[in-house]
Amino acid sequence: MSLKELLKNRKSYRHNFTDRKITKDELQYLMEAAYLAPSGCNLQSSRVIGVLDQDKLDKLAEIFGFAWAKTATAAIVIVTKPMALEGKGPSRHKEDFGAAAQNLWLAITDLGLATTWIQGQIENEKGEQMAEVLKVPGDYKVSGYFPIGEPSRETVGPKKMPFEVRCFLDEFGAEFK
Ligand SMILES: Cc1cc2nc3c(=O)[nH]c(=O)nc-3n(C[C@H](O)[C@H](O)[C@H](O)COP(=O)(O)O)c2cc1C
Repeated sequence: MSLKELLKNRKSYRHNFTDRKITKDELQYLMEAAYLAPSGCNLQSSRVIGVLDQDKLDKLAEIFGFAWAKTATAAIVIVTKPMALEGKGPSRHKEDFGAAAQNLWLAITDLGLATTWIQGQIENEKGEQMAEVLKVPGDYKVSGYFPIGEPSRETVGPKKMPFEVRCFLDEFGAEFK
């Protein structure tokens, strides 16, 4: 898929996956996409955990609590911790995570697979329970959980606001024409 197609096709998927197994090579491709993302001061604050083990997949989905995630045949969990260089401003680990997550999502789309960026729903004890399952050291926090699989159905993504509402030419509010 071209980058343009990937950008257009990427969307959140919250339905059952087929039973198609994700291979280790595919998982590695996805993890590399996340790992190659830019980071503030190149501090590379995120750590990427690929999960194929069925018991761990089940536990993560159980903690998340949604039936569709239980059908995922792989998952990626990205964990981060604050990191900053003296005199270079605050930690950018949240932005680093965002860049890694978006790279990952595009790569998932590239393989004809699907996921959803699960963050808001695990910013509580669920994230901590997931960290326990994956033996994440205490100074790292689970930032995102991505259950992955082959979609079992076509879905239509949510409507985006019209381009003109959010994109301007030369100054805020000026029409792009
Ligand atoms: C920072 C962030 C946190 C998100 N957290 C969740 C979440 O916890 N659960 C969920 O189902 N989707 C979550 N999403 C996905 C958004 O709901 C989704 O991207 C948005 O509705 C737009 O839909 P689209 O991804 O199909 O374009 C999150 C997305 C972002 C960028």
